[in-house]
Amino acid sequence: MSQYQTKVLAVFNQKGGVGKTTLTGIIAEYLAIRKNKRVLIVDLDMQCNSSDFWVGMEAAPYANGAQLPPIHPDFDGDPFFEERSSIADIFYDKGVLSHSVTIPKKNNMDQGCIEILAGHPDKLEAVCTAFEEATGNTPNRIVNRLKDFFHLDDVCNAYDVVILDTGPSRSPVFRAALRAATHGVIPFEPEEKSTQGINAMLQAIESENLNRQDFERLDIIGLCPNKVRLNTNLHRDQIKTLRSKVGDLLFPEDTYLPVSVAFPERDVKNIEPKYMMHINQKHKAYLASSRVGEYVFQHLFNAVPSRDTGTTLPDIRAQ
Ligand SMILES: Nc1ncnc2c1ncn2[C@@H]1O[C@H](COP(=O)(O)OP(=O)(O)OP(=O)(O)O)[C@@H](O)[C@H]1O
Ligand SMILES: [Mg+2]
Repeated sequence: MSQYQTKVLAVFNQKGGVGKTTLTGIIAEYLAIRKNKRVLIVDLDMQCNSSDFWVGMEAAPYANGAQLPPIHPDFDGDPFFEERSSIADIFYDKGVLSHSVTIPKKNNMDQGCIEILAGHPDKLEAVCTAFEEATGNTPNRIVNRLKDFFHLDDVCNAYDVVILDTGPSRSPVFRAALRAATHGVIPFEPEEKSTQGINAMLQAIESENLNRQDFERLDIIGLCPNKVRLNTNLHRDQIKTLRSKVGDLLFPEDTYLPVSVAFPERDVKNIEPKYMMHINQKHKAYLASSRVGEYVFQHLFNAVPSRDTGTTLPDIRAQ
């Protein structure tokens, strides 16, 4: 069991485009709308796709990544905060302002509220540079910074779960996410090269757990297959092989997220419905997303026994 009150769920895979941001959003929606949980999304990816989805990034041609987080509506000039508040500010010992997003009531579902701490491409990159150039205790401080932040009473009291959307690299910010996480989910596409990314993540978790006490081990909820086409031999074989190696570390079959245009459609600005929980409830994307949400919920909140990550995780490389 973790000592934290707030669950911190990291969604990670160093491979790009496998569905980290998509999964972050789906889980956040499900927990907020269907389970009435107080959810905070933290965007730790310099691409800031989650920030753009939830609050909208501003185009800024001369800024890193050509975008900036929006000016926070509650910013009042207090020097403790930045007007374009972002999670990066905590690395500079500043306060942060989260954005609130209300998901309206629709169909038979209640209204939900999600908060998000936006990313900031320039500043997140600066954190990484500071880490590379730092001496003494600074690198350690950077890696521990997120964890320390999520331990603050204000944060613990305000949220039931924090979901970390991470970028496709092993940056110092990624290391900080790994250090802060109480739970992890690894989305992947069942393609030929996917085992590499999964293995790298499992190894990263294992070495992180070597630094932790038994009671605070990072609990892997599992590997979540995404963009799945079970009507192809490639996907069926990949998943079967993986299942034989990792067993129930792989999500159950009814949660596999199918390839569907319903997922990228969410990213189109001003599209309706914007949220996965609001699409047709018979749609395969809705059904699988809800099952993923429920599976993660059960692990986070209903005390599904933790995986004993104290023992060696499976090495899934081809033998
Ligand atoms: N099941 C799916 N079917 C079809 N398209 C999908 C599915 N899941 C995600 N996508 C699309 O694939 C693209 C990549 O997904 P996403 O941004 O979630 O991946 P990511 O791992 O966060 O990428 P990055 O590593 O760049 O942060 C997006 O356009 C998304 O809408
Ligand atoms: Mg992403």
